[in-house]
Amino acid sequence: MKRVLPVLLGTLAVAFVAATRVQTAAPAAGAVPTFSKDVAPIVFNKCVSCHRPGEVAPMTLMSYDDVRPWAKAIKSKVVSREMPPWGADPDHSLKMRNDRSLSRQQIETIAAWVDAGAPRGNDAELPPMPKFAEGWTAGREPDYVLEMPIEFSIPAEGELGVQMFYAKVPFAEDRFAETLEIRPGNRAVVHHLGVFVVDIPEGARIDEQGRLITRDGKPSTDRGEGLAGRADTTALPGANKLLSWVPGRGVDTHRSDIGKRIPAGKYINWQVHYNPTGKPEKDRSKLGIWFNKVPVTHELLIRQAGDPLATTKGGLSLYRAEGKEVEYTADETTTTTRRRSKTPNIPPYAEDWSLTGITPVTEDITLYAMSPHMHLRGKSLRWVIVYPDGREQTILDVPRFDFNWQIEYELEQPLKIPAGSKILGIGKYDNSPKNKWNPSPNLEVYWSEQSWDEMYQPFTLYSVDSQVLSDMTVTKEPRQ
Ligand code: HEC
Repeated sequence: MKRVLPVLLGTLAVAFVAATRVQTAAPAAGAVPTFSKDVAPIVFNKCVSCHRPGEVAPMTLMSYDDVRPWAKAIKSKVVSREMPPWGADPDHSLKMRNDRSLSRQQIETIAAWVDAGAPRGNDAELPPMPKFAEGWTAGREPDYVLEMPIEFSIPAEGELGVQMFYAKVPFAEDRFAETLEIRPGNRAVVHHLGVFVVDIPEGARIDEQGRLITRDGKPSTDRGEGLAGRADTTALPGANKLLSWVPGRGVDTHRSDIGKRIPAGKYINWQVHYNPTGKPEKDRSKLGIWFNKVPVTHELLIRQAGDPLATTKGGLSLYRAEGKEVEYTADETTTTTRRRSKTPNIPPYAEDWSLTGITPVTEDITLYAMSPHMHLRGKSLRWVIVYPDGREQTILDVPRFDFNWQIEYELEQPLKIPAGSKILGIGKYDNSPKNKWNPSPNLEVYWSEQSWDEMYQPFTLYSVDSQVLSDMTVTKEPRQ
């Protein structure tokens, strides 16, 4: 059985919410809140980014008439904190700059309004509907647009493996991106999409179809063969993920002096998962790039907890799997390939199985953001910093991980982490029948990219303090 999971999201929503955050005053004691005066400001700022035509949510919440029939459901979803979707427990996480959750006061206002019979109030008091950018979310044209090397034809039916496309980085020198945005060419068929910068194996070349041809002349990225047949260029040294897209998420904005490096001489690798629609389709997706406009002081790096950081001094990374009392050492090649070895499988029916990745911090770093990625058995993920003096600090706790919402949590204040600390990513998995998403509790769970297998990817975005960039190319004027 193939279930198409609603992988949904909202960095898009987040960008908007952050830009237009307003303080909503609590209704005076005893006064009954009304839609126009008290509820609309919350709904327009916290819900409409997704609950409007053409967006990810199933219904529109743009007016009293839209909202009224949903009043009871709205109360229940906001009180349970299922809406807006946001996984971080505010009591055990640092403040996030893209936090879209409601304050306690906002939740109380909505609940009181519903309890009072959801009165309309005076239309004259309605706040203006916020404006939403069409096209590129950043609201302006990118400095540079990279397209998939070809327009790809997706057959009407069948299951396609992840399609790989390659093209040479078009820049003569390294460039840094402050903002990146993916726009699928055809949303009907693009299920998810990732863009990486990679090297290709010795002796390989890229053909006119954007395929990788290995030294012996074979296309290693055979279309249709999918994961099994591909050359895993993202496992080669120096590979870096630029960005990924799922519905509702596909924009990545960083601080003005921190950037993602797009190195000259490397290759852009598109990895696209298509879902056939029943008729032949075409797609040519795009990546918009906005270069940093001020000198970039540090490169933004991304690693999983448990993998070594890109520091010059090595350090032993560990994995600790519950129940086995064994520490699993990342294999020798980890420093270069970031591949993990020997992570034990999750036993059948295990309800609270934990896997912890432990990354030693061997040089001072600055941490910017975290993004948990697990699959259907993923239950919770928590980032803990252990400082050199033994003090422990939980910086992000996602107590009920939800596979449908792949959220990146961006720290409001970047966190300085001194050498000698450790970053722990404490993951828990539920392979029991209690987990409603679990397709087969009776099976041992392996590790792979297929959603019926598991993944442990506590992505951490950081820069190394000593790695100051000096020779930065800064684009003052947007290029055509
Ligand atoms: C990031 C996008 C996003 C934001 C922001 C968001 N929603 Fe949703 N909402 C969804 C999606 C997608 C669904 C359907 C899937 C689901 O239920 O998870 C949904 C479902 C719902 C439902 C259940 C509908 C049903 O069929 O029962 C309610 C009620 C709801 N949202 C209310 C709200 C309210 C109120 C807000 C703001 C306070 C809000 N949502 C903010 C995306 C969003």
